[in-house]
Amino acid sequence: MASTRLLCLLRSKAAAGAATSTQTLARSVSCRRHVSTSPSTQQSCMSAWVIDQYGSNGVLKYSEEAALPVVKSPCEVMIQVHAASLNPLDLAMRGGYGAKLLKLKRDTASVMNQDSEFPLILGRDLSGVVVDCGSEVSEFVPGDEVWAAVPPWKQGSLAEYVTLTEYEVSHKPQSLSHTEAASIPYVASTALSALVFAGGLCRDSALNKRVLIIGGSGGVGTFSIQLLKSWGAHVTVTCSHNAEGLVRGLGADEVVDYTPGDIAQRLEMMEKFDVILDNVGEDTEQWAMDLLKPWSGSKYVTLVTPLLHSTDSLGLLNGTINAGCFLCTKAAQVMVSKGVFYRWAFYTPDGPALDEIRRLVDAGKILPVVEAQFPFTQVPQAFQKMEQGHARGKTVVQVVENDQSEVAQQNMGTDTVDLDLGDQQTAKPAS
Ligand SMILES: NC(=O)c1ccc[n+]([C@@H]2O[C@H](COP(=O)([O-])OP(=O)(O)OC[C@H]3O[C@@H](n4cnc5c(N)ncnc54)[C@H](OP(=O)(O)O)[C@@H]3O)[C@@H](O)[C@H]2O)c1
Repeated sequence: MASTRLLCLLRSKAAAGAATSTQTLARSVSCRRHVSTSPSTQQSCMSAWVIDQYGSNGVLKYSEEAALPVVKSPCEVMIQVHAASLNPLDLAMRGGYGAKLLKLKRDTASVMNQDSEFPLILGRDLSGVVVDCGSEVSEFVPGDEVWAAVPPWKQGSLAEYVTLTEYEVSHKPQSLSHTEAASIPYVASTALSALVFAGGLCRDSALNKRVLIIGGSGGVGTFSIQLLKSWGAHVTVTCSHNAEGLVRGLGADEVVDYTPGDIAQRLEMMEKFDVILDNVGEDTEQWAMDLLKPWSGSKYVTLVTPLLHSTDSLGLLNGTINAGCFLCTKAAQVMVSKGVFYRWAFYTPDGPALDEIRRLVDAGKILPVVEAQFPFTQVPQAFQKMEQGHARGKTVVQVVENDQSEVAQQNMGTDTVDLDLGDQQTAKPAS
């Protein structure tokens, strides 16, 4: 029975105070927004992991000549990335998933004139420090510690620098190190999109609502459990038997092991649910609708949709029409036959929503769940770890190694929370 210690850390108030004073100093010296502390006005390149073609892990290349993403519009913020984290989307995008739709979103003209999307930089989460701001940026100044989820149609965070719009960025929780903070933004934005916009839940309406999370032990699941518990919902989780300690430690009220195979029957014996969040897909749609309260506004929300596969295989127009028809038909069938809503959910960039999450994190209601950490030199190993599956929270890449801000925070004292991972095998984090 191997027990693994997770990095679920609540930082000391002293560390938070130190961070605040740094930010105050930065604010006091930056009266105007367009103040740059970026490395050098001469610099036009940066280090990044890029891909020049789609494929398996071999396509990941370390480059010191990736284009520096300088601020080009008044509402942009340039960030030095201290830590990034990986999501299943990074694995999929490495192999070409969503290429057609994301290319269109990146640059409409490029689809018409066959321009290449390469070199591409993967990585959707970041925690870092603002180094430059456009002239109309009002919420951030150079020196601010921030976190963000980088939209998949923008250059990613496995790089020294990322530039995003102000709207996509949020101040990082003061109680977390960059490594911990980088584990949250993409899963948080996705979970909020799924639970709030598709699932109709919110802080004021979730109290005592019965929510089933199918696949509770990965990135989205471990975050969603904590968010729902902070809202007062009753949370049931399906996961593998060796993740039970983890999800119970995060607050799950009831846990059902899916591995014996009769998951639908065992869930049917429980009181029916108001909302189901499906992080797994596969055959769940065949049985999950029967678990919802009929004719009472209950909702099945899935994150595993065929939209991008459809546009990849059928082209943009046919693929979108095909997926849209499937969604409408299925939603109508499910409503008529079962009296429940059927919905797809997608990650949505939303800095202000991350502000809300920051408050929950700094109040100790949401903990980062970091399963493995890799240095920037070992990004391919981090992808290999993700490929093994069976995630328990997140895999983080430390872009700034020996990050002095993290060392300082750790030296000032750290409370740790141990979560029992049972007898699962986890990847050995890189030292
Ligand atoms: N639509 C969107 O915009 C969007 C955004 C984010 C994520 N997603 C998708 O949402 C899904 C979840 O994302 P994630 O980041 O949480 O993935 P993840 O970190 O890889 O976690 C998946 C978890 O599901 C567990 N699992 C696998 N099969 C299961 C089953 N049959 N029943 C219960 N648990 C099972 C896995 O552990 P074991 O295998 O050990 O059980 C793992 O802990 C992924 O498919 C991802 O691509 C979609």
